[in-house]
Amino acid sequence: MSANQTIRYDWTNLRAEVVGSGHGLTAADLQAHRDQARTAVKKFLARVDKGEFGFPAVPFDKEPVAQVERYVRARRGRYRSVLLLGIGGSALGAFALDAAANGPRPFRRRKVPAELWVLDNVDPLILGRSLEQLDARKTLVVVVTKSGSTAETMAQFLIVYDWLRKKVGAKKAAQQVAAVTDPAKGDLLEIARSEGFELFFVPPNVGGRFSVMTPVGLLPAALAGVDIKKLLAGAGSVVKACREPELEANPALQSALHQFLLDTRYSKTIQVIYCYSNALLPLAFWYKQLWAESLGKQFDRDKREVFVGQTAMEALGVTDQHSQSQLYMEGPHDKVVTFWELAEEDYRIRIPKLFPKHSSTGYLGGHTLNELFRAEKFATELALTEAGRPNCTIVFPRAGEHAIGQLMMMTMFQTAYAGEFYNVNAFDQPGVQLGKDLTYALLGREGFEAERQRIAAYREQKQRLEGK
Ligand code: PA5
Repeated sequence: MSANQTIRYDWTNLRAEVVGSGHGLTAADLQAHRDQARTAVKKFLARVDKGEFGFPAVPFDKEPVAQVERYVRARRGRYRSVLLLGIGGSALGAFALDAAANGPRPFRRRKVPAELWVLDNVDPLILGRSLEQLDARKTLVVVVTKSGSTAETMAQFLIVYDWLRKKVGAKKAAQQVAAVTDPAKGDLLEIARSEGFELFFVPPNVGGRFSVMTPVGLLPAALAGVDIKKLLAGAGSVVKACREPELEANPALQSALHQFLLDTRYSKTIQVIYCYSNALLPLAFWYKQLWAESLGKQFDRDKREVFVGQTAMEALGVTDQHSQSQLYMEGPHDKVVTFWELAEEDYRIRIPKLFPKHSSTGYLGGHTLNELFRAEKFATELALTEAGRPNCTIVFPRAGEHAIGQLMMMTMFQTAYAGEFYNVNAFDQPGVQLGKDLTYALLGREGFEAERQRIAAYREQKQRLEGK
């Protein structure tokens, strides 16, 4: 593949000689962790090759793609909207793919076969207004939950399925629902079988936030017109490099080590993903979840209490130059900025030469908006660098499926390797599970008596203290 089709990681401005010692990485830092990096690759890949972690193999698995494509082809032109019910890893990937490939709503760069509605919250306004606006006969529902039991998704499903049945009748409603879940367990699996929904599976060895390249992301994205073959080709094209044991040959490993060292040695506890593209912003939400849920851990793998994890947050260029940049430049030295930038944009817009005598308009005329966009990113990068703020850039050839596939695969490997450096299990989420269990208990689900007692004790204590 030619270099200009590949995303590029430029980390020059993470170096101590550029941003100052105490804020950037030294050659000695990297040298000191070279062996640890090789071990990280070896240990992680041993588990991948044993089949414990499935995400690296997913782009090469032909059958799920074929099933998705058959399903999409058979329904092309029949539906105007695809209603995605899911949350976290079961929603963020499809949302990111749709925005990056099709353009963020309402700024679509191409005509889509069906609009994707992602209901990843239980805010009653969102679901209520969606059902008022959607035409049930022209809506295909995709319900995604790996566990088959998440409260938010199941509640949405009950409401939406009831709505659909009332609008189109039971038989048609069942034909208008596709379910994506675990192949062996969970209530959604049983319900889907008994109702006769089309079923798609998430491989058991692929966790929620690592599942975007399975039908979890592929099905809704393909229904919305995303070219999933290109996406998978992009993802597959970086796997070899992501398996390399040497830092310089492996951008995922390199960037994992960079962030780990910046966080743990130089107190850059926050990583800002500064997106110079509206189309890529939802991708930053996807990444934010991947990084946070995988690395934010109380215990390490030796059961020691460690409280680790770097906070990832998103910012939008240039919009946030007029909002967040002040903090990034002069506030606490606790951030590292990762710019995401497109080498090529679909549109080229010339700024007209109007009002040449005015100093605020004269110099702009004749330039392009693209030049302005690029100049703003460059200016922010330079200002941050001069202020001793470490920053790096990922350059995307363009916001198409191929590059997004590369970025997603690369960052999933990056996260797995960061897990090795922090010595935490990057593939569990006990904190998220606790939130789920307490919700089940609050709403009276069976089997959560211990959580109910905990809630009662908490309420009692709160009442006591509020009274004081
Ligand atoms: O990454 C994860 O495991 C989580 O974010 C899950 O994707 C999220 O909690 C939704 O879970 P489920 O797909 O079981 O409904």
